[in-house]
Amino acid sequence: MITGGGNGIGRATAVRFAAEGASVVVADIQEAKAQETVGLVEAVGGKAVAIGVDVVNRDDNDAMAQLAVDTFGGLDIVVTAAGISHASYDSGDIENEAKWLQERADQVDDPARAVADMDIDEFRKVMAVNVEGTLFGIQACLSRMLDLKTGGSIITLASIAAKHPDAGPLPYVCSKSAVWMMTKKLARELAVADIRVNSIGPGFIETSMTAVIDMMPEDRTDALWDGIPMGRKGQPIDIANAALFLASDESRYFTGEILHPDGGYFTE
Ligand SMILES: NC(=O)c1ccc[n+]([C@@H]2O[C@H](COP(=O)([O-])OP(=O)(O)OC[C@H]3O[C@@H](n4cnc5c(N)ncnc54)[C@H](O)[C@@H]3O)[C@@H](O)[C@H]2O)c1
Repeated sequence: MITGGGNGIGRATAVRFAAEGASVVVADIQEAKAQETVGLVEAVGGKAVAIGVDVVNRDDNDAMAQLAVDTFGGLDIVVTAAGISHASYDSGDIENEAKWLQERADQVDDPARAVADMDIDEFRKVMAVNVEGTLFGIQACLSRMLDLKTGGSIITLASIAAKHPDAGPLPYVCSKSAVWMMTKKLARELAVADIRVNSIGPGFIETSMTAVIDMMPEDRTDALWDGIPMGRKGQPIDIANAALFLASDESRYFTGEILHPDGGYFTE
């Protein structure tokens, strides 16, 4: 099961897993993009099925978990990659990102005022998709995994923003920090059911979500690249490879861990 499988990291993970023989459910709010991912999976000789899912909707999550069992007869790996960087984020809409950056130009010069004026609905939207959406997806899949008694591996998508306040806007860093703590707590709760729960905390990866960085003034991005010893973004496949390790028996003694494919960001 891969939520957010219609683009970026989720899509790369779906294709990577399928190439290793996994049957994949590709769940995404953008159903057409999920279907495109299924096409990419089939192109590498893999099996996948797409479903339109809003991760904040419990019925949608239930339908996606049931689809895995009905279509493939099991459910043992869950990757929760659906996420947003800000309330109006719409994956793949680059013009929308340019508009968002423009609207925030004043806030960069007066960050304290921006906090005072922050719209709480925007905060709640990011928390709902990134935190509740992660939990709902896990709950729906977990209930089937417990019935099936086959154990498994759950992989959440946190971020370097889970631990570093500079790696995103206020709602985003709060949401990713919550996803990381949720991961550790679930690891402790689910060990008894032979289900491991780990997280990936990527640095800046080249997807729609980081396209906004390329639109920023050079003085801001220079500082950002200076903070990354490798001096560049990573690729979605770098995260898919980490997810593959966490999904496989090669990581069988890992639970409650976070891996940071980040080009050295956390060496400071
Ligand atoms: N790109 C990065 O640098 C980076 C770094 C750290 C963490 N992450 C995290 O990795 C995950 C994937 O991000 P990405 O970079 O691949 O972005 P992306 O925009 O390419 O992919 C996100 C996917 O999630 C889907 N989605 C958004 N809201 C949804 C909802 N309510 N229900 C179902 N699907 C929804 C989108 O349609 C999209 O297909 C996110 O959780 C993100 O926060 C990304």
